Amino acid sequence: MLDLAKAFLERKELPEWRLEAELLVAQALNVSRMGLFLIFERPVSGAEVDLARDFLVRRGRREPTAYIIGKREFYCRDFAVGPGVLIPRPETELLVDRARELAAALGVEGDRGAHAEPAGAERGQGENAKEPYRIAELGTGSGCLAVTLALEIPGAEIIATDISARALEQARANGEALGAVVHWQVGDGLAPLAECAARNGPFDLLLSNPPYIGGDEAGELAPEVIDYEPREALFAPGDERDYWLRRLVAEGVELLKPGGYLLVELGAAQGAAARELCAARGLSCEVRRDLAGLDRVLEVRRPV
Ligand SMILES: C[S@@+](CC[C@H](N)C(=O)[O-])C[C@H]1O[C@@H](n2cnc3c(N)ncnc32)[C@H](O)[C@@H]1O
Repeated sequence: MLDLAKAFLERKELPEWRLEAELLVAQALNVSRMGLFLIFERPVSGAEVDLARDFLVRRGRREPTAYIIGKREFYCRDFAVGPGVLIPRPETELLVDRARELAAALGVEGDRGAHAEPAGAERGQGENAKEPYRIAELGTGSGCLAVTLALEIPGAEIIATDISARALEQARANGEALGAVVHWQVGDGLAPLAECAARNGPFDLLLSNPPYIGGDEAGELAPEVIDYEPREALFAPGDERDYWLRRLVAEGVELLKPGGYLLVELGAAQGAAARELCAARGLSCEVRRDLAGLDRVLEVRRPV
């Protein structure tokens, strides 16, 4: 069954045909991917064959595997996803890595409640060591970033927003399933975060993987993306690629404590624009690269 599935997806010229065949057949047989290799002797039922065939036909039509099996792994945890919710991407894990490093430098990581001041830590933000470490996310989608940060930085207080009620419902369900405490808020752009900052005080960290595809880049997207994933998660307003980058650098930084950080996921071609936008506002910044060597994360520290 696995051989047939692999051969079918290879004929369809799907680059990850081996992995995807295993994921789809495992889902049809209701076992883990590893579990597949332990049940070679087990007869499969007609219903299981029908289900696997249905999955493979859908994948052959370029429906994303994550939507077919209803989940995608992010930072070693499964996140449920479905139509209307962006599928988490591996490069977004870089934001988590960096957020963890920044929190750890302040002694927040792994320390519930009040966090200790580490020797020599650079501390412009969170002057009062008893204050919670406050994180805000704009455009949470499946909740993969906010939930992962809540679990990886247990001392943090997190608010995550999205304009899409469907996405937020999924994020909330993922948070509950994984045992993460996050304040979820449906809302448009930076307004809900500005209200939260006005009410409870500014943030230590604002992060976002905003829609950053320009109108002229639509033709470069794979059918899995352009035909299936939500447009509002992909395309920036007015098809202006740098729309959210510009707004986050201008208005997002204002929501941070002095010494707080802004982390924004970038498209590979946005590095230069990110540096220019920061320079124009007198902000020093760093553009970090992903494992493929492409510009991927803008990091800005609000001056102390
Ligand atoms: C690229 S996706 C990122 C999703 C998730 N954070 C991730 O990394 O997988 C961008 C998200 O921003 C949301 N979004 C788009 N426009 C928005 C707006 N005006 N206000 C709030 N969220 C918005 C989309 O619904 C989508 O979930």
